[in-house]
Amino acid sequence: MLPTRSEAEKLLAEAEKCNPGPWGNHSRVAAHCAERIALGCGDMDPEKAYILGLLHDIGRKFGVRHLGHVSDGYSYMMSLGYDEVARICLTHSFNNMRIDEYIGRADTSEEEYELIVAELGKISLDEYDRLIQICDALSGSEGVVSVEDRMNDVKRRYGSFPQEKWDSVMALKTYFEEKTGKDIYALVEKESYAVS
Ligand SMILES: [Fe+2]
Repeated sequence: MLPTRSEAEKLLAEAEKCNPGPWGNHSRVAAHCAERIALGCGDMDPEKAYILGLLHDIGRKFGVRHLGHVSDGYSYMMSLGYDEVARICLTHSFNNMRIDEYIGRADTSEEEYELIVAELGKISLDEYDRLIQICDALSGSEGVVSVEDRMNDVKRRYGSFPQEKWDSVMALKTYFEEKTGKDIYALVEKESYAVS
């Protein structure tokens, strides 16, 4: 189940009040990218894509956490019955579906860690999981960014970036470019889109 577009916008606005930060606009950029790419694909629902993009980081409502934002988002969305969003809260951080590829601190309790491992184990990635993964990589807090620039920025902040993850993000970009027949940056209006 999914919230409506306006419910999703309200959930994000409320969450931002609890933990203000650039993640709110990052989420809005991701929603825009997801809607545009889904539209270009022809076989995906742009409205669903927008809602999933908007709420993929909703776990940040509960404070500044690294891996914890994944389990916070999953549990929060499940508590509202939004299982399709809960899934995205999990899968957006794991291109290869392994918890050890998470970049950042494993700042979860044992229960939270086990929840992530158990739920990830039940999922095989679908088109929407892949879509939000690439949109996360395309989205800065002020607008669309180059995926290489964004990954280099993460590399600078955390000191390293796993090659396997780098390669999988580049493969996702190619995948959606081939699927839509378009340059990804043109598709998401990189140069002209401004978050509002
Ligand atoms: Fe994100």
